[in-house]
Amino acid sequence: MSLPVPDPRAIALVTGASSGIGEELARGLAQRGHGVVLVARRQERLKALAAELSSAYGVRAEVIACDLTDSDGRGELADRIADLGLRVDILVNNAGFGLGGLFHRSDPEAQVMQLRVLCEAPVVLLRAFLPGMVERRSGAVINVASTAGMQPLPNSAGYGAAKAHLLSLSEAVHAEVKRFGVTVTALCPGPVFTELFNRQDHPVERVPRSLWLHPDKVAEAALKGAERGKRVVIPGGPIRVGSALMRLTPRALELRLLERMSR
Ligand SMILES: NC(=O)c1ccc[n+]([C@@H]2O[C@H](COP(=O)([O-])OP(=O)(O)OC[C@H]3O[C@@H](n4cnc5c(N)ncnc54)[C@H](OP(=O)(O)O)[C@@H]3O)[C@@H](O)[C@H]2O)c1
Repeated sequence: MSLPVPDPRAIALVTGASSGIGEELARGLAQRGHGVVLVARRQERLKALAAELSSAYGVRAEVIACDLTDSDGRGELADRIADLGLRVDILVNNAGFGLGGLFHRSDPEAQVMQLRVLCEAPVVLLRAFLPGMVERRSGAVINVASTAGMQPLPNSAGYGAAKAHLLSLSEAVHAEVKRFGVTVTALCPGPVFTELFNRQDHPVERVPRSLWLHPDKVAEAALKGAERGKRVVIPGGPIRVGSALMRLTPRALELRLLERMSR
């Protein structure tokens, strides 16, 4: 198993490429010779990245500005890519944001928007591009989940539940399609230095800085994992050990600990 071989008629579609982990995943894919279609809302940032990637690596880099909460815009992505004469060999579902705080005090509309970006958009894009990969017996998907999806997460309940959905979906679909030469890799980082939590006082800020990773390291671990056809990638030794220990902890104790730590 490996990432598909770069082909001028094919691209890697990367959502949430305007910053953080998505930007670094796009950079790592371009460095490996893959053309990219960059998707997010902030078009100017995408254009600057596309210019950088095509001049540094000589790959085709296209920009599609799209709000992934908008079902019409999201639904048009497949046609817009086909109109460019391109097919999607690699799909990276990365776009996201995370709400923190007590669920019963949260903004209900924001909770729904979070689901749209973290659950609906990956489902729609996976369903749109996976059949072609299976038919060609070649393709790779990277779904950016999180260690937040490995257990219920008090004080980020909606975010943790959404990431659990993506993680479960990824693992099950990986099991379905790997015999067709297609892999689905769930990337599960712990805390990463990005813009994700800049906008609010999020409980993740309580995690010691020594456990945080930089987005380029996280992206490289994801791409190396995808090259090896891995089902789940958890970057960083201490986070990997921590999540393994958490899996051995009784659920009631785990919830009590997490609720205290994140309060
Ligand atoms: N940072 C962490 O600690 C961490 C840990 C585990 C998992 N993750 C996951 O990693 C992924 C990337 O996050 P990041 O940490 O790199 O944060 P980031 O720098 O804030 O990047 C988030 C990306 O998602 C895009 N996005 C958000 N809402 C969107 C929408 N409605 N439509 C289209 N694009 C949208 C943003 O672009 P625009 O604003 O331009 O639209 C941006 O490119 C997320 O799924 C996140 O849950 C992050």
